[in-house]
Formats: sequence, structure tokens, C-alpha cells
Amino acid sequence: MKLLTAKPGWQIKADVIVIGSGVAGLTTALNVRAKNLSVLLVTKSYIDEGSTKWAQGGIAAALGPGDSPEQHKQDTLNAGAGLCELSAVDVLVSEGPEAVRKLIARGAVFDKSETGEIALTREGGHLRNRILHAGGDATGAEVSRALLAAVKQDSGIEIIEHALVIDLLKNHADQACGVTLHVIGEGSRDGVGQALARAVVIATGGLGQVYAQTTNPAVSTGDGVALAIRAGALISDVEFIQFHPTVLYKDLAHRGQQPLISEAVRGEGAFLVNDLRERFMEGKHPQADLAPRDVVAKEIFNQMQSTGKPHVWLDATEIVDFAKRFPTIYQSCKNNGIDPVNDLIPVAPASHYASGGVLVDLNGQSSISNLFVCGESACTGAHGANRLASNSLLEGLVFGARIAEFIADHLANFSEPITEAGNFLLDPKIVIPLQLAMTEGAGVMRNENSLKKTLKTLNELGKLISTEPNIDSWEASNLHILASAIVRSALIRKESRGSHWRSDYPHTDDEFRVHIIGKMNSNGQWQHKTSSVLEKIA
Ligand code: SIN
Repeated sequence: MKLLTAKPGWQIKADVIVIGSGVAGLTTALNVRAKNLSVLLVTKSYIDEGSTKWAQGGIAAALGPGDSPEQHKQDTLNAGAGLCELSAVDVLVSEGPEAVRKLIARGAVFDKSETGEIALTREGGHLRNRILHAGGDATGAEVSRALLAAVKQDSGIEIIEHALVIDLLKNHADQACGVTLHVIGEGSRDGVGQALARAVVIATGGLGQVYAQTTNPAVSTGDGVALAIRAGALISDVEFIQFHPTVLYKDLAHRGQQPLISEAVRGEGAFLVNDLRERFMEGKHPQADLAPRDVVAKEIFNQMQSTGKPHVWLDATEIVDFAKRFPTIYQSCKNNGIDPVNDLIPVAPASHYASGGVLVDLNGQSSISNLFVCGESACTGAHGANRLASNSLLEGLVFGARIAEFIADHLANFSEPITEAGNFLLDPKIVIPLQLAMTEGAGVMRNENSLKKTLKTLNELGKLISTEPNIDSWEASNLHILASAIVRSALIRKESRGSHWRSDYPHTDDEFRVHIIGKMNSNGQWQHKTSSVLEKIA
């Protein structure tokens, strides 16, 4: 299945094409260049406009005195609620410290304590202070700045901005050999073109825009995952959408990206209260306000249900020098008429992170030869049913380096793509009803009825076809494929686990200690399998 597009009017070639310019894409690009291969880095908007720059809390790595990869592993496994792949977690936590040191060597500057050591804070699910941060709460912006500076210095990396990737190109052996993309450019590279490569790396980040309220920026429409699905790649664990517990509540009329209030604020002493000023997390989990985020999000949701109020409150008034420690959050509160030094902050959960994605092995290789996936778009199994806070930037650093290593050692030849005309395109009018249906029926809490109702809405919206290929219709089509994938898997998982919470199956069921692996065939039909290990089943 392919998206309807105009005929490609131009072509470009590079050894490796990297799609996406967040931590995963930039890290992969730099490491591929270190192997003397040419890189084409394409990005949907401006080069610094992805989820990475919005990351506040930081990067988790066992760097502090007394900490160890083993302890980081235990916290990751606890958050992952029985579905983490041990080998992926081992890689993440054991290669993490070195990956962070390399990032520092590339120029990233992290906040220091008074004694000059890297300052480490805590977030939900961590039993130790192990989160590095930069600019107080602007860690992603600093990571992005440092990696971008290195990328821009490298003449072997060609960057194309305003390039929306459309579909995967495959050769006669069914292997990836490039992508079609649409560029808003000038001169010879404008409109739809083909980028041919010996390896394709998807690093397009999240899909938060599937929901009405999200912490993700507008560009997070999951284009890379949707492309991989259409190309027939296996996906896994996509029902595990993580809802960040503390997103600044404005009102329900506000759709799209909402301001995040980092877990690190609770890590520095803030706590949640309800309308009666009761600390409702106490007694609910041994880590109370710093329980893994699925636990906190569920408890907030319960409070909202029982009070009928659309939010709870975060009390951060005891944090010393809030504006200095959390300058970004301070500013976004002020912009919304809240003074976090003196006022309670209204917060509610919103969609934040896809713990699943395109199924890959420990080298980022998907079920399609020469197609690699890194970061939030991928499912390595490191996050299980619920990602541990601040493991995502780390995943991009660690697996980006592994992918580059593997590609260099297993480099395919260039090959000619088979031509296949696109036939699928939906009307951009579907986006708002799709987002509302997903938030209503496949949000923090789901059940059989709500999911079936959502699927019915999606099926209806899927009939609103478009004949006008443009960015809005491609994005709408991508959101539709992703929403359908999430709902179908959520219907199969008849239990509650991690960030998948079903009111009709409130308990975790050992029978479901399996991954739900999906694949869409060329007619748009879904097939699903369950597996206790994340293997690339054809
Ligand atoms: C946060 O700062 O609370 C978000 C961190 C994360 O998603 O890992």
C-alpha cells in the first residue's frame, strides 16, 4: 500500500538516508559519517524542530556514585511491567554511560552541582538520582544544539529541510533501497522526488498528534512508522501509549501540543494534590508522587473521575528558586497566567510517548532488509509496557551508534526501486474527529466498548478519501493508519498492563505477558500474532 502522490520529478543518492533530526537521527548520522559513508539527512520542518528539543527532564544513565547499570536495569524493568526485552534493556543501561560521555565529548553541556560534578536529579520510577539535565529543564534543546553543531560541520552530511517522507522504495528482492519524499524547496529539488540509498534509517520520533492533547510538537504525526507499516514491516507494542501525568491543563478546547511540567519538578520535591488539597499519591505506591508515570497518570485520572474536575494540582511552591531550576516551565506557567512559585499548577495527563513502534533487533534492523529504525519510532523492547522516564534520549544515543556500526559492516549495494503507483489518500478533514475519538475511546483508560466505538469511527473516517496529494492529506493518512494500529492492538490486549489500562480488564494477566506484533498487508488488512519474545516473525 502506498500514498497517492504526484510522479517523482527528481532523484538524489547517498549511502545512507536518515529520516529525522532528533537525537536518534543526528546520532545515527554522525556515527555513519564516522564510517566514511555519505549521509542524506532529511527532516520534515526546520532541522531543530522535533520532539528532542522539547525534552525537559533529561537523560538517565548510571553515572552517579553508588549507581550501576544493574540498578538502572531494575528500574527500567519495573516500569516496563513485565514486557521489557532483557537483551535490549541490558544494551541500553550498559552502553548508556559511554554514549552519554560521547555526547559530552561532542559538546553537550550538562548542569553541574556546586562541587562541579554533573548534577543528577530523579524522576518517576527511578530509585536513584540518575537524570542528567541541561539549562535546568531544557535538556533536549542542549542535546539538539550540540549534535546539530557537529552535523553542520560535516560536509559529508547533506541536510534537506521541509522534506516529508512519503513511502519506502523497495527493489525486486523486497529490500529497502530508498524513499519517496516531498520537499518544499527551490529549483531542482522541489515537489516529490526519490532518494536512493544503501540503507534507510527512520528516526521520525513520536506520533502524539494521534491524540487531541499531547506533549509532542505538531510535526509528530508518526510519518516514519506509518511508512514502515505500509511497506509491510512488523510493528509491536503499539497499544502502549504513555500518557505523561503532569501536563499543564489549559482547557479541553486546546488541542495539539500542551506545555509539559517535567517529572523532575516532582523529583525536586513538588507533589500532587486534589481539590481538597489532599496528597492523593500517598499510600498508592511506595514511591508515591515518584511512582512510574503510568501509576501516577492512572491515579490522576481516578481523581478527575471522582471529582468531575478536568485536572488536579501540582504543588511546587516549596521548590527553592523554581525559576532558576526550571526556567522553561516557569515561563510556560507564567505565559498561562500561573505563578508556580506561589500558585498550584493545574495538571492533567496527555499523550506523551509511544513505547512500541516498528519492531527492530538490537542493531535497529526492521523486518525489511536495509530498513533500520531508531528512537521513539522503533520498538527495541527496551521500554516494555511503559518507558521509564528519561530513557528515551538515551535510547536514541545508544541505538543510533549501534545502527551505524551494523550498517557499515553489512552495507548493501545501491539497487533500482520497482515502480508502484500510490493508491491511498485521506481527506485532512478527518484529523480533528480522529484525534477526539482517540482521546475519548483509546486514551488513558480504555475498554471493549470505547475501543470498538473508536474503531468504528476510524473505519468511517477511512472512507473520506482525497484525490489531492499534499502535506495535510499525507499526514492525515498517516495518523489514520497509526490510530487504527493502536486501537486494534489495544482491543487484543484484554488486560491492564503498564500504560495500557482497561476498565473492563483491570488486572494484569500472565497469559498476556506477550507482545502483540502486527503487520498490514498490501490491501490494508491487518494480521496480528502474539509472541513472548520480540522476534522478527515474517
Ligand atoms: C519529563 O521531563 O517529565 C519527561 C521525561 C521523559 O519523558 O522521559
